[in-house]
Amino acid sequence: MTTLAIDLTSREYRLNPWPLYARLRDEAPVHHVPEGAADGSDFYVLSRYDDVALALKDKKLFSSQIRRDDYMNLPMLVNRDAPEHTRLRHMANRAFNARLVRTLGDWVQTIVDDLMTDLLSHDRVEFVEAFTTSLPLRVVGGMLGIPLDRKADLRRWSQAVMDSFAVAAGMDPDEAPGFFEDLMEFGNYMGDLAAERKGKPNREDILGELVVQHEAGDLTRDELVTMAWSFVAAGHETTMNLLGGGFHLLLSDPEVAKRMAAEPERTGDFAEEYLRLNSPTQWLLRRTKQDVELHGSVIPEGALVHVLLGAANRDPRHFPDPDTFDLDRPNKGDHMAFGAGPHFCPGAALSRLLADRAFHAYYAHLDRFSLDPEEPAQYRTRQGSYGIAKMNVLVSR
Ligand code: HEM
Repeated sequence: MTTLAIDLTSREYRLNPWPLYARLRDEAPVHHVPEGAADGSDFYVLSRYDDVALALKDKKLFSSQIRRDDYMNLPMLVNRDAPEHTRLRHMANRAFNARLVRTLGDWVQTIVDDLMTDLLSHDRVEFVEAFTTSLPLRVVGGMLGIPLDRKADLRRWSQAVMDSFAVAAGMDPDEAPGFFEDLMEFGNYMGDLAAERKGKPNREDILGELVVQHEAGDLTRDELVTMAWSFVAAGHETTMNLLGGGFHLLLSDPEVAKRMAAEPERTGDFAEEYLRLNSPTQWLLRRTKQDVELHGSVIPEGALVHVLLGAANRDPRHFPDPDTFDLDRPNKGDHMAFGAGPHFCPGAALSRLLADRAFHAYYAHLDRFSLDPEEPAQYRTRQGSYGIAKMNVLVSR
């Protein structure tokens, strides 16, 4: 096993991980980081496409239940294995099915049009605040029955859920002061919202379906609350990264923008190739359930493994010329930006819908938007998340 002298927690790595990924894939496909995790324990890193696919799909070898004690070990979809995961996932799929997403088109379009009209009324906007954060929060919040005037709270709560994931993965809780109180506040709020719906079954939105399942005794109150947490946290930052990064690409590459405006029916391909190239979730965590032998190295049972989606999606063994954005790439749909296997993202159809409507709305006003040359866009530095944190855009009349 090769151990490269690289620091996976460094800022440079978070902002520009691609050269390190290439070295990992080529020189150390099973990379061991002794005492490198935030809690001081060691971990392993997988970066090649086939190995990442194995870690996500093989339930006998890899577990999603990464914590071994009870601290922040919340009953959430993402950190549970079968049979508990299968049961919760069945509930989630019923609440969040493709049929429901298909009925959302007109409503999503109204929100996109509303945000776009607002953008066009300014001379200069901070695009992340004005659009890429607002769209997923309004949609996911609306589907959970959270009224618009709680938007600021929803952002804070979404952040608290993300922080809880990071703390469960080993981050020092002092780095996220107040997250636990915010999480509890969100839980109580969702509990109250659900209680208001009791006896008035309404399967039109996610909350309605979850309440029906709760009343039937299939879902406990805690599970209902953590399910709502999962949807908000998993759906907000990821979709925001896709939208922000996609718009940045359109604004910074006139050739791509011109082509998309001429062929708007290729917007789905645009989003998939963007996701392949810049996975909003760069890595996931797993724990080995038994010794796993790969490339002549053994990852011991019980080891924590960083599964690098972002590296797998740029593995030249699977995607030729992987660092290039290629709208016509035949196998771009093989990307694992939405994960793979039993935990494959249940929100994929929704985020594709949001991206489709958002990018389409932009083509009509292509000539009016430009990046502010005075202030380059800033990337996020949260570990494991890749996307734009701040992007000033000029709007001409
Ligand atoms: C571009 C947008 C999105 C990306 C890149 C993304 C990515 C992912 C990935 C990689 C996973 C797998 C996690 C794992 O295997 O441990 C996942 C799971 C999940 N996603 Fe998404 N997601 C996106 C949008 C959404 C949306 C809009 C929602 C809901 C509103 C959502 C809800 C979830 C949930 C609940 C899970 C857990 C599923 C499970 O563990 O069975 N995601 N997502």
